Amino acid sequence: MNTKIIGTGSYVPERVVTNDDLADMVDTSDEWIRTRTGIRKRHVSEGEGTAAMAAEAARRAMENGGVGPEDIDLILVGTTTADDCFPSAACEVQKAIGAVGAVGFDISAACSGFIFALNTAEALLKSYGYRTGLVIGADNLSKIVDWSDRSTCVLFGDGAGAAVVRVLEEEEDRDGGGILAADMGSDGRKAEVLRCQSRTMGNFLTGTKPEPGYITMEGQEVFKFAVKKVPECIQRVLEKGGLDAGDIKYFVLHQANYRICESIAKRLKVSMDKIPMNIEHYGNTSGATIPILLDELNREGKLEPGDKIILAGFGAGLTWGAVLLQW
Ligand code: UT7
Repeated sequence: MNTKIIGTGSYVPERVVTNDDLADMVDTSDEWIRTRTGIRKRHVSEGEGTAAMAAEAARRAMENGGVGPEDIDLILVGTTTADDCFPSAACEVQKAIGAVGAVGFDISAACSGFIFALNTAEALLKSYGYRTGLVIGADNLSKIVDWSDRSTCVLFGDGAGAAVVRVLEEEEDRDGGGILAADMGSDGRKAEVLRCQSRTMGNFLTGTKPEPGYITMEGQEVFKFAVKKVPECIQRVLEKGGLDAGDIKYFVLHQANYRICESIAKRLKVSMDKIPMNIEHYGNTSGATIPILLDELNREGKLEPGDKIILAGFGAGLTWGAVLLQW
């Protein structure tokens, strides 16, 4: 049995915010943002929630994969910005797309959310005998960004990406492949370097009401962690799959900073031709960056049966993970 991605979809809100727009709000410049991050613009929700974006990405992925809502057995959404504490974004997506026969829940791993959700989906599909899963990475970070903090507000954007994952019997799929290897990790000792204290401030004894939180980050700490952990994690999936970096067509990396991706490429000793980038258009959409980029590659016809690719990400937790796939 092979667990394969058979369809992809993505969605970003219409409203575009350029670096110059942000320079009107905080003490920053297009030049600083471009040279330090690679970002030129981002899409920001003007009211559309995480579930609405996720559902639209899901519809596009189902259409691309030729499946309907009645085919979906499992919905996993990697997100840290579900519209409500509960219900989960996955249950909201289930309602929106009419996948009444599915079970859905969210995975909280920040920017690693899609990778964690994909790995969890693969395990559940195999162990529960499900056939088709919908794996989504969706985030609405604009609602938890402090728009007066130039060190974070220039980095993020909103969006969603989705993949339909299906277990195929060998007679259905002579190409073989699918998910070949996976690796995930977390280090809670580093929680402070990237945090959003939300929904946690209420206190019974003092009568304090819950207050909305916002993102705080020690950027350089996250940078150093990412450029060390992501290549190590990629090496582990390569070893598990019995391959080396030269066998991989694309490394589809979390889009947090162009310089982070360059540094990962250098450590893997691969050229930037193998590291597709779209950060300039969307900024860091957290759990959505990897499935949005994957969807773009798929729709541009850049993925062919047999191609080996690695998806890899990192984020708050701290968390990190990678998946080796044969398309
Ligand atoms: O999904 C995971 C989420 N997070 C990340 O991946 C973040 C990883 N880290 C990074 O991408 C980078 O550390 C940043 C882009 C956040 C910052 O780049 P940096 O090269 O590490 O800059 P820095 O923090 O060392 O700041 C350099 C200077 C400082 O000024 P001084 O102290 O040198 O005078 C900052 O105050 O740049 C200043 N600065 C800015 N200037 C203009 C910080 N933010 C801005 C800004 N515009 N937006």
